[in-house]
Amino acid sequence: MTVHGNTQQAWESASQKHIHEYNELLDEAKYARLLPLEEAVLRDIVVDADVVHPMSGHGIDDVALIHLGAGSVTGVDYSPTAASAAQRRADELGVDCRYVTATLPASGLIDNSADLVYTGKGALIWVDDLEAWLTEMRRLLRPGGHLFIYEAHPLTPLWSWDRDKVEVRSDRGYFARSHVNDSFPAGGAVEYQRTFAETIMTITGAGFEILHLEEHPEPFWRPDGMDAAAWNGQVPNAFSLLARHRG
Ligand SMILES: C[S@@+](CC[C@H](N)C(=O)[O-])C[C@H]1O[C@@H](n2cnc3c(N)ncnc32)[C@H](O)[C@@H]1O
Repeated sequence: MTVHGNTQQAWESASQKHIHEYNELLDEAKYARLLPLEEAVLRDIVVDADVVHPMSGHGIDDVALIHLGAGSVTGVDYSPTAASAAQRRADELGVDCRYVTATLPASGLIDNSADLVYTGKGALIWVDDLEAWLTEMRRLLRPGGHLFIYEAHPLTPLWSWDRDKVEVRSDRGYFARSHVNDSFPAGGAVEYQRTFAETIMTITGAGFEILHLEEHPEPFWRPDGMDAAAWNGQVPNAFSLLARHRG
């Protein structure tokens, strides 16, 4: 099986969780909010915006975007299980979210249909060709529209999960192109890597102007019951970025 086929299969089986935990996720979605750092950046631009969420997963953040004032959200995910569970939840809550099953970067959505592309929390690591992915996002955005990403810092895969001291894993490299995920939910799948500089230069090179860029010590996700010294403030674990389609 190809690397992509293997990753897609890992996500299809991980997405069963969205069905098994349907009711808990529905309760979570009812009162969902984005993180304070996301709300601070997006509050003014999300109002009445048509949002596209590539790699939308369980879609809880889509309901949070609606709660923050978005006009509509279109989630795109290649897992039919994830997309259908998210659609069922949105319909039950009566929020204007719709879900498309597609393998990005080919979203199948129409040109100039979005005011905001919102993504992250484990999305860009599945993108092998960031330039092609950004070209698609730029096509979807109306001129002047925004791209928001809150994502794992490129250094994050290097940190060991040692509880007592911050350590770099000897089997990972900052300049490596990929590594194999060895934790839940996508264990066995290949994650793509790019340096922070490469990420930023690719975004600006694709026709975006950066308006906000910040590195954060907290990871966007902590596996249940796990703690690691690397997540406790000494080193970066996430970044947030807001960029504008230059028109
Ligand atoms: C970590 S999860 C969800 C991230 C989501 N932004 C969230 O916060 O819930 C990543 C999702 O990306 C989807 N995905 C990965 N590669 C994809 C691709 N090439 N096209 C579409 N969906 C993809 C997976 O099916 C999975 O649901």
